[in-house]
Amino acid sequence: MTPSIPAELIERLSRAQRVVAMTGAGISAESGIPTFRDAQSGLWAQFKPEELASEAGFRAAPERVWQWYRWRYQQVRKTSPNPGHYALAQLQQRLPNFTLITQNVDGLHQAAGSTDVIELHGSIRRVRCLDNDCEEQEWPENSTGTPPKHSCGSLLRPAVVWFGEFLPEQALADAIEAVENCDLMFSIGTSSLVYPAAELPLVAQQNGAVVVEINPNPTPLSTRADYVLTGAAGVVLPELVKALPGPV
Ligand code: APR
Repeated sequence: MTPSIPAELIERLSRAQRVVAMTGAGISAESGIPTFRDAQSGLWAQFKPEELASEAGFRAAPERVWQWYRWRYQQVRKTSPNPGHYALAQLQQRLPNFTLITQNVDGLHQAAGSTDVIELHGSIRRVRCLDNDCEEQEWPENSTGTPPKHSCGSLLRPAVVWFGEFLPEQALADAIEAVENCDLMFSIGTSSLVYPAAELPLVAQQNGAVVVEINPNPTPLSTRADYVLTGAAGVVLPELVKALPGPV
């Protein structure tokens, strides 16, 4: 079913000086990316999430955690962006000042053409060193056994945010700056349960922005949002782009 986008929302979007969109796992669902818990099947089901996604888990069993992420990274590399990702890349081109914030680590927004994406939870496509926060880099080839060491001597780890870790400082600061100063914010495909990301649409609203949720299911944000577009991101977002006035 084609969702209907309120004309008033399109009018507000076309007039907005600064627009922010924040995405969660739901936007990648249509690309076939399993959520963390869904991915924890088969061989991996025997481990607690903290054993696979925390610094303590990594220090206790570096090879296990490295292999889990390497496997997930390889799964992600086989996927492609879907119409929702592409529609957001188009919005960035069509709107004068558009900031994309994501909680996803899959890199599919960049694959769809979005630029300057703020990655709140890091990226599974990169690694960095465990102890010295050395620069992020591509996954090394042939890393089937224990994690290799960075030139600084520290083990490499995936560049994602683990349980108990702070969000990357610059990414969070950039996200807060964007939401505090936008006129309209989309919250797309996120359960709005994981903080601090869940708070960002509320911060935008407190600062006078119109908040629009896109999700097939209700979330804690649904009763607070100014507009709720019920449906899959891969359907609603292309409709939204199509409804915008001006050349496509
Ligand atoms: N389009 C839009 N939304 C969808 C779609 C779709 N096609 N399919 C599912 N959803 C919605 C679900 O209704 C749900 O509200 O996406 C949301 C996914 O929720 P979560 O799996 O909790 O994902 P997210 O909110 O991104 O989780 C935040 O938690 O697991 C940690 O660090 C991980 O970044 C993740 C964070």
